[in-house]
Amino acid sequence: MAKVLKRTNMCGELNKSHIGNTVVLNGWIQRKRNLGGLIFCDLRDKTGIVQIVFNQDVPQKLFETADRLKSEYVIGIKGQVKERESKNEQIATGDIEIFVDDLVIYSESETPPIYIKDDDDVSENLRLKYRYLDLRKNRMQKNLMFRHNMMKLTRDFFDKEGFVEIETPMLIKPTPEGARDYLVPSRVNQGMFYALPQSPQMFKQILMVSGVDRYFQIVKCFRDEDLRADRQPEFTQIDLEMSFVDIDDVLELQERYLQQLFKELMDVEIKLPLPRLSYDEAMERYGSDKPDTRFGFELQSLNEIVKDCGFKVFSSAIDSGGDVRGININGYNDRFSRKDLDKLQDEIKVYGAKGLAWMRVEENEIKSSFGKFIDEETLKTIADAFNAKANDLILIVAGPKKIVFDSLGFLRREIAQRLGLLDNTKYNLLWVLDFPLFEYDEEEGRYNSMHHPFTSPKDQDTDLLDSDPTMVKAKAYDIVLNGVELGGGSIRIHDKDLQKKIFSTLGLSDEEIDSKFGFLLEAFKYGTPPHGGLAYGLDRMAMLLCKEKSIREVIAFPKNQAAMCMMSGAPSEASEELLDELKITTIKE
Ligand code: AMO
Repeated sequence: MAKVLKRTNMCGELNKSHIGNTVVLNGWIQRKRNLGGLIFCDLRDKTGIVQIVFNQDVPQKLFETADRLKSEYVIGIKGQVKERESKNEQIATGDIEIFVDDLVIYSESETPPIYIKDDDDVSENLRLKYRYLDLRKNRMQKNLMFRHNMMKLTRDFFDKEGFVEIETPMLIKPTPEGARDYLVPSRVNQGMFYALPQSPQMFKQILMVSGVDRYFQIVKCFRDEDLRADRQPEFTQIDLEMSFVDIDDVLELQERYLQQLFKELMDVEIKLPLPRLSYDEAMERYGSDKPDTRFGFELQSLNEIVKDCGFKVFSSAIDSGGDVRGININGYNDRFSRKDLDKLQDEIKVYGAKGLAWMRVEENEIKSSFGKFIDEETLKTIADAFNAKANDLILIVAGPKKIVFDSLGFLRREIAQRLGLLDNTKYNLLWVLDFPLFEYDEEEGRYNSMHHPFTSPKDQDTDLLDSDPTMVKAKAYDIVLNGVELGGGSIRIHDKDLQKKIFSTLGLSDEEIDSKFGFLLEAFKYGTPPHGGLAYGLDRMAMLLCKEKSIREVIAFPKNQAAMCMMSGAPSEASEELLDELKITTIKE
């Protein structure tokens, strides 16, 4: 075993003030150059890179050892800090270099399959397979550090506010958060399964019954759902619950937390109170319940103007209870070719849109895809409704409300992105409130909770539960940052009869209610404080604040798009022995 040289400094922290000092450094070789009598290496640790130099003054043996060094060898050195003749402004330590007089090679490295360089352009799966190498990159080390700082600040903030961090179990009965469960077979109780928590929802509510008063936890959650850039099968929540509160108490406290987070970690001032939008307003203006307000292109209803215009696509949409709405891509008409518009039309088909109508506003005329079906006067009225000027492009979708909102919501954001209007120095945080309690699932012919079934209806709406459940609004709130849902929560139902009624409205039989949620209703019999809370997606928050495009960049060992761990090979087959013990037979296709 080679001796370990005891480190005196980290590589990245050395500067002119250390000139003349003898230092001991440990780290990895980033690269080596042998210029005959001089060997230069870049030595890297988590703090950065520093240049080390071996010259002919050192013993022959040491020089020969230095000549053996290759990328990613792990070494320790002792040497003197000197001022560099030719400074390197690219790196923080570029004013100095270390003249080495002792060197230990701790371990050698084969040629690494990926470069340890932030901009190494290899496939993500290769990066994930060699994640330990990928994580050596400066950018990834920074992301890990940022996440750590976020967790530390979060724990300190909520601790000061009287919250207690309590761990809730990982092997539980299913908690309904709208995704599929991951199941874990029980050996002791054969034929039975635990579910991994989609969230600690019911446990945190029961902690309120237990008198904990304020709970928080940084907790892993598991959801078997289709993966996207901002979703992982296992992800982390900052989960919170408080007793004796109403909506304003929760929002006010969370705003102070967010303000501190942005100030301390990003040096960004967030003005309070944060804007609040009702769900209806968010949909009407932005076509989304998580609006990105960094740019305009707001939706505009054209129903009044076009209801009798004679163009069937528009009038029949309105006659059948739908909508005609548009957005004005003001000032950018010349950036869109006919082909671009056809492409956008194709892209909104996934939302159910039958077509995309457009109007190009030019200096002396308006050209449009539906000009032959509509009189010039109406075209002008539409243009006026958008305050249109030369070089504006108006995009219009007609159809059922949901399709219109989804399509225009997508177009707004997609176009803003293509035009480079998503300013990543802006942090537009806002609350969305007054969500409907239920959404009606046409295919299944039943109601689903918009959040989860523990969300309280608004007091004034409880009468509507029997007559028209879709009209009932919830005491729910989502926090949105630049078009991404960071978190969400609600004031909960704390009355067992009302909770039962909600379960029934969701189509659960008494037996199902009892078998799935009996323990919660039982707990509610013995004195339940009014309570509410929320959960943030910690990975999403870290992703946005680190200006990353995927949450995989802020998770040390994420799964890929196919929910696999490329490094360890999970999931994998289980041994026959284990399956026998669990009395599980697998069917291979
Ligand atoms: P919800 O289901 O909205 O609420 O989840 C809270 C936040 O968690 C994040 N999130 C995810 N992040 C990464 N990958 C996923 N698959 C994923 N799913 C959700 C989002 C989301 O806003 N129990 C409630 C909270 C409450 O009511 O207190 C809940 O889990 O950022």
